[in-house]
Amino acid sequence: MASNSNLIRANRDKNDEFYTQLSDIENELKHYKNHFKNKIVFCNCDDPYESNFFKYFAMNFNTLGLKKLVTTCYAGSPIVTEQLSLFDVDGLVIKKGYEKHPYKIEINEVPDSNNDGAIDLYDVEALIKSGNNNLSLLKEDGDFRSKECIDLLKECDIVVTNPPFSLFREYIALLFKYEKKFLIIGNQNSITCKEIFPLIKANKMWLGYNSGGQTFRVPNDFEQKNTFVGEDNNKYAKFGNICWCTNLDIEKRYEKMILYKKYDKNEYPKYVNYDAINVDKITDIPCDYYETMGVPITFITSYCPTQFRIVGISCRDSIRIADIVEKDAIYQKGGPQVYLKISDKNYKRLYNRLFIIRNDLEEEENGNKAA
Ligand SMILES: C[S@@+](CC[C@H](N)C(=O)[O-])C[C@H]1O[C@@H](n2cnc3c(N)ncnc32)[C@H](O)[C@@H]1O
Repeated sequence: MASNSNLIRANRDKNDEFYTQLSDIENELKHYKNHFKNKIVFCNCDDPYESNFFKYFAMNFNTLGLKKLVTTCYAGSPIVTEQLSLFDVDGLVIKKGYEKHPYKIEINEVPDSNNDGAIDLYDVEALIKSGNNNLSLLKEDGDFRSKECIDLLKECDIVVTNPPFSLFREYIALLFKYEKKFLIIGNQNSITCKEIFPLIKANKMWLGYNSGGQTFRVPNDFEQKNTFVGEDNNKYAKFGNICWCTNLDIEKRYEKMILYKKYDKNEYPKYVNYDAINVDKITDIPCDYYETMGVPITFITSYCPTQFRIVGISCRDSIRIADIVEKDAIYQKGGPQVYLKISDKNYKRLYNRLFIIRNDLEEEENGNKAA
């Protein structure tokens, strides 16, 4: 099973070296094709040697109608140009002594050099080998927060990458500061944090198509549970709770959930410390309830803002249980969370909940009137 604690540990250790597989990038990016025409794409945490984001955009440069692809890598990466080379491209030789020096690749055109109409890796290799590849060393360290990288950020239209998990909040803050469109990989834990959640709540960013467990390629010395050696002899690790975060408008946002369960006050008890009913499973959201409901965080993966409005989150918005219950009440302590009364003076603490309310009431009423 994918372990979310793996991700938390990696976050804590600032071990950010896991690399997205091409198939996962293709599976997500296939839904966004209409966003890229004439756009400058910036992958700012991506060594072209190791990044499948670079590979994806280079291979699909013409199909997507890109204007430019810019990729920068980071000096701090322990494996820059060493272990995870996805391209064995002789032409991309870094001068001796500069092996660890971060660099930038700018691609302005991808000619179909084997004239078969298709752009494949052969063309990309030829492109990089050619003198027009715009490979240049960076003056700074390739940190996405460096002035040099921020200048590139300002110039670009869309940022697409898997940024370091340990710097996710800072990364998002920068994208919003420069009002950039983005599609990036994150994890569902970070979207509930106090810096990111308000953006989700305000519909300034949302989840993409794929979420849940995802397998990443990792360096050979990456020692954690749930790593395994693949058929290709490379090391991989599976992480849970992965999600794609974006502010690009996608069809999925308009797909309303089909609700079929009827509200029953015995089945949907109210919390003792927040004015909302508890819904244990997303599929159990009642179709005929129009007050606030608490739902599992995974709701975010099916969230349609024309159907629901997110009004809060239990880890921050619920009232302190100690201020509400009897002095001798029995309940599991911890930070703020919602509780249900299970018997006299006995309260059950629940996992984090999103508080939501129907947003399509007017539409429903009109529908009902029409019927
Ligand atoms: C999770 S990995 C993903 C790599 C690549 N984007 C991919 O998806 O395969 C994050 C990358 O960000 C790099 N990184 C870490 N801190 C960085 C920083 N401050 N600025 C830019 N890149 C950084 C790491 O070295 C690592 O290569």
